[in-house]
Amino acid sequence: MKPKNSKFVRMLDENTIEVSLPNKLGYERIAMSCSASFAKIVGFLPERVEDLKTAVSEACLNAMEHGNLNHPDKRVLITMDYNDHIFRVSVMDQGEGMGETPEILEEPDIDKKIENLQTPRGLGMFLIKQLVDQVEYNKITDEGHMVRMVLKLTG
Ligand SMILES: Nc1ncnc2c1ncn2[C@@H]1O[C@H](COP(=O)(O)OP(=O)(O)OP(=O)(O)O)[C@@H](O)[C@H]1O
Ligand SMILES: [Mg+2]
Repeated sequence: MKPKNSKFVRMLDENTIEVSLPNKLGYERIAMSCSASFAKIVGFLPERVEDLKTAVSEACLNAMEHGNLNHPDKRVLITMDYNDHIFRVSVMDQGEGMGETPEILEEPDIDKKIENLQTPRGLGMFLIKQLVDQVEYNKITDEGHMVRMVLKLTG
């Protein structure tokens, strides 16, 4: 059946969940909880759910700060799907991407950070890379810049 107001309904398949956030610091928690609920329902263990929450939170914070440049009228769109034991989550912002590839970003070095030889920031992408099975970023689409992460359900 065709839904009423169909022009307002984006057609997503039955395995997909989408969360659209205003660009407000703190609201990344909404994306964390939604992704955690979804991952629990499809069978991820609590430890893996925590990894997912941290990765989603870092990606959302980056989207709000670096992508949307803290602009209050921009949005962050989180799209998640689970198919064939693979949980995919993408975080899209309305910015232009990073201009650098992950390999170029300097690996965080805690000693250097303590001695002020390296910025105290720069942990988010590193954490994401450690926590998820795959990450792709700098994907520029018509709608904006996207970070895509993949977690596999094992065991
Ligand atoms: N969505 C994004 N759009 C544009 N640039 C981004 C985006 N995400 C990350 N970046 C760039 O990549 C850099 C590294 O991101 P990362 O999350 O590792 O560190 P950070 O956000 O600077 O600091 P931290 O996450 O430790 O608070 C950022 O400083 C920014 O230049
Ligand atoms: Mg960050």
